[in-house]
Amino acid sequence: MPSGRHFLQIPGPTNVPDRVLRAIDRPTIDHRGPEFQKLGQEVLAGIKEIFQTRQPVIIYPASGTGAWEAALVNTLSPGDRVLMSETGHFASLWQQMAGRLGLEVELIPGDWRHGADPQEIEARLAGDRSHAIKAVCVVHNETSTGVTSRIPEIRRAIDRTGHPALFLVDTISSLGSIDYRHDEWGVDVTVSGSQKGLMLPPGLSFNAVSEKALSASRTARLPRSFWNWEEMLAANATGFFPYTPATNLLYGLKEAIAMLLEEGLPAVFARHERHAEATRRAVRGWGLEILCADPREYSAALTTVMMPEGHDADALRKAILENFDMSLGAGLTRLKGRVFRIGHLGHFNDLMLCGTLSGVEMGLRLAGVPHQAGGVQAALDHLAGSAPADEPDQRQRRTA
Ligand SMILES: Cc1ncc(COP(=O)(O)O)c(C=O)c1O
Repeated sequence: MPSGRHFLQIPGPTNVPDRVLRAIDRPTIDHRGPEFQKLGQEVLAGIKEIFQTRQPVIIYPASGTGAWEAALVNTLSPGDRVLMSETGHFASLWQQMAGRLGLEVELIPGDWRHGADPQEIEARLAGDRSHAIKAVCVVHNETSTGVTSRIPEIRRAIDRTGHPALFLVDTISSLGSIDYRHDEWGVDVTVSGSQKGLMLPPGLSFNAVSEKALSASRTARLPRSFWNWEEMLAANATGFFPYTPATNLLYGLKEAIAMLLEEGLPAVFARHERHAEATRRAVRGWGLEILCADPREYSAALTTVMMPEGHDADALRKAILENFDMSLGAGLTRLKGRVFRIGHLGHFNDLMLCGTLSGVEMGLRLAGVPHQAGGVQAALDHLAGSAPADEPDQRQRRTA
């Protein structure tokens, strides 16, 4: 066993803060008793602040994939058409699920270097005069590519057409890391998960639900039982769940919400943007290419780095794991071996980023990957030149 802490720099699951671990490490209580009721009411209210919504947020004891399914089966009927954008591996998995559930997917093809295209979505909806399309599904932050789709622009594009389709957004790797506003951006179902920006272990997932989505759920005919919103919302009204909740993860969720709100969501988002910018400067310093092709869509949660032709990203990741005990994200499906992903989301600070980037730079050298030295220095220059203590929020926090 190597000594010191493992560096878990995949783009989720992320490092779980000690405060959250301590919160989870308590006896499980009766989930039908008064102590649980208080916990249930607190987390159900608190999580709304993270989604920036006043509408209900449903919490499932499931990974993010479950919440994807819940979003579809609660709002749609067999044979309904859904419009999806092929932005990467996770968008493709959601598309595959929709097909398996008996939905008809209209796919906007993509090159995995761009986000969902608002203009193309607008054109498809404008051409759908009979309103056959019942939902537009977009992955906000495509974890396989490090590309963040522009949700407010997509909302405006939908609105320009006057099309009544629901808007379903996956925020599994953006919530709690990248600015996201369920209400203001007019999203009908926001899907998310616990193991990334929320700094929790895997095992919880979420649906934030608009009035319009709730009303669609009353006539939707896809079969659903475990995922049924109606029973959840009825039980949640008094702080309870219709089946056994993941009680200890809810203890952790309460703590994670408190941590995010203590720091303040704007400061959390600014921290992620600053670390992402430092990471990109490091990548450019190494003379390597960032997969995301449009700077407006750079992800603040992770950076995907392209390997020079003829060099294998998995060999590099292996060298880094064996020599420096750091896990980096692999290239998925079509990107296997061609890219590696640096996660810089969740419970993360300047020196953790410096350690991460140093591990990458040393790994590039060890694995014989052609690059220039000086990437880490470029990141250090950025971090030192934009210290977090300069932010008023952070100053207040330090002196409080
Ligand atoms: C954007 C996105 N969507 C969906 C998923 C699937 O979630 P899970 O693996 O928690 O089921 C992931 C997992 O990493 C993801 O990053």
